[in-house]
Amino acid sequence: MTTDYDTIAKQYKKSKELPFRLHVEAYTFFHLLGDIAGKSLLDLACGEGFYTRQFQLQGAASVVGVDNSEKMIELARQQEALKPQGIKYIIADVQELGVIGSFDLVVAAYLLNYTQTKEQLLLMCQSIYANLKPGGRFVTVNDNNEQSPDSFLATEKYGFIKSISEPLAEGTPIKFTFVVDGEEFSFDNYYLSRDTYEWAFQTAGFKQVRWQKPLLSPDALKEESQEFWQDFLNYPPLIGIECIK
Ligand SMILES: C[S@@+](CC[C@H](N)C(=O)[O-])C[C@H]1O[C@@H](n2cnc3c(N)ncnc32)[C@H](O)[C@@H]1O
Repeated sequence: MTTDYDTIAKQYKKSKELPFRLHVEAYTFFHLLGDIAGKSLLDLACGEGFYTRQFQLQGAASVVGVDNSEKMIELARQQEALKPQGIKYIIADVQELGVIGSFDLVVAAYLLNYTQTKEQLLLMCQSIYANLKPGGRFVTVNDNNEQSPDSFLATEKYGFIKSISEPLAEGTPIKFTFVVDGEEFSFDNYYLSRDTYEWAFQTAGFKQVRWQKPLLSPDALKEESQEFWQDFLNYPPLIGIECIK
């Protein structure tokens, strides 16, 4: 897993300003999460805390964020120092996290797509499972591994595209490129098939797995037409997943 978030931390933070992040990504994520009031929550690959802070504001009883990028956690801790929310941030690799608690919810936005082999994916899923209470839920938004490369350019007008330099196969790098305010930056994720994901969730012990297509927030239509969003919805680059322990 090679993406160095220490160097792109600030650009990544800025990419959260793109409209699809709010109107599709966050809307779908929070739809899957449902009511989190009073719940204990572990946010894996929390980055600089973009979602982590929102979970606390939405009433989660306790929130812990984990990321393996020192720079991302430094930015998250700076925000926590400026406006304390009682969030604990830990620098750790999720694959080597061990058990740090027994949470109602483990969440992750774009974590699993950093694994390049099914063994790495299984280690992540086992870590997630181990930190959940029985009956607890894992909720994530992730690269949509069912999107055909033929449609990768269809999302260009939203400030985001994927590209590949070899045919899609297990472990193929997929380059994610963002353009925010005319500034471009890229990083790699890896393709693993939906069957591999299903296998890893089941092998880790999850009882139920649900895949959720991206949803468009009603507010999105106050700014742009349905037609504007249709390519994103027809060729969704991201997907929501919910797993129950
Ligand atoms: C695309 S960013 C998403 C950040 C945040 N979830 C968000 O949506 O704003 C992916 C994050 O995953 C982190 N990451 C990648 N592999 C990781 C691993 N094995 N353990 C912990 N964090 C990891 C990166 O450092 C980066 O902050």
